[in-house]
Amino acid sequence: MILVTGGTGFIGSHTCVELAAAGEAFVILDNFSNSQRSVLERLQRITGQAPLCEEGDVRDGALLDRLFAKYPIDAVIHFAALKAVGESVAKPLAYYDTNVAGTLTLLQAMQRANVRTLVFSSSATVYAESAVMPIAEHFPLSPTNPYGQTKLMIEQVLADLDASEPQAWRLARLRYFNPVGAHESGLIGEDPQDVPNNLMPFVAQVATGQRAQLRVFGNDYPTVDGTGVRDYIHVTDLAKGHVAALNYLRQHTGLLTVNLGSGRPASVLEMVASFARACGRPIPYEVVARRPGDLAAYWADPSSAEQLLGWRAELDLDRMCLDAWRWQDGEARRQAACA
Ligand code: WQD
Repeated sequence: MILVTGGTGFIGSHTCVELAAAGEAFVILDNFSNSQRSVLERLQRITGQAPLCEEGDVRDGALLDRLFAKYPIDAVIHFAALKAVGESVAKPLAYYDTNVAGTLTLLQAMQRANVRTLVFSSSATVYAESAVMPIAEHFPLSPTNPYGQTKLMIEQVLADLDASEPQAWRLARLRYFNPVGAHESGLIGEDPQDVPNNLMPFVAQVATGQRAQLRVFGNDYPTVDGTGVRDYIHVTDLAKGHVAALNYLRQHTGLLTVNLGSGRPASVLEMVASFARACGRPIPYEVVARRPGDLAAYWADPSSAEQLLGWRAELDLDRMCLDAWRWQDGEARRQAACA
């Protein structure tokens, strides 16, 4: 059985769908600090089974001991974390507490329970700024914000843990690029609790009329059209990457580190144009100043994941936008119906 921490969140919930599709039993641990309980019944509608879920926090070691005693858990997929870059600058202690201390508590509970398989949600923000593209796993690591620092610190903990007990642990560090989109059913998707920091959910809210217009953060970058370029990956492809990583760990001890990205760069304006096609209406925008800390362009070299996991991102930008639109439009209609 798989313990999925943060399993009602954006990537966690989509991974639960793919775990169910793969016939994997799982139990969710979530404190619902950044997700809705309604995700559970939507997971049931998608998968046909009511997901097991325990409410609680990964920082509660005694609770984790109880879960490892209660369920036949033999692996963990660890999503539970705070993930907003800007917020991490304003609240570093909260990020180190939840992300680093929480993961340490989880690893200690795993060691006590002799559960030695972990898939860890890392991030491309661990990489240093690079003039060379695409980014490969051996590139220099140098986060520029506390959020990325927490991810790198946990990566280091996992490397040291593996070195301390060779062949005893099975650890995957998955470096996500830019996850976007939603499940094809339109029942689950990205559901930011306040003003979206990220491009795709903001564009989606402009498309539904919840936001008046998109602010494009700079069009003077040395890129195809002057706007920022990123590696967008459909959240369903990302979720499938987690199942592939879990299966890899079942065959291999040690430490796995792979990029999970599409390897296909896209600019802000290319994303806007794709979303306009998806929703059938223009996306109004205004070009404003660059956002501090933003890089011009980065995207993944996903070849390690392809070779080691037999996985690659299949869904393109238009599909990402179509699925995100179906989710956002459906949510807006559901909320209007409840108003
Ligand atoms: C994408 C592009 C912006 C919003 C962040 C985190 C990263 C990861 C993914 C967790 C950039 C532009 C954005 C807007 C805009 N999260 N943009 N107007 O910054 O690449 O990565 O999310 O792991 O850690 O840093 O994603 O979606 O914020 O920005 O013009 O309102 O869209 O300048 O070029 P980012 P993003």
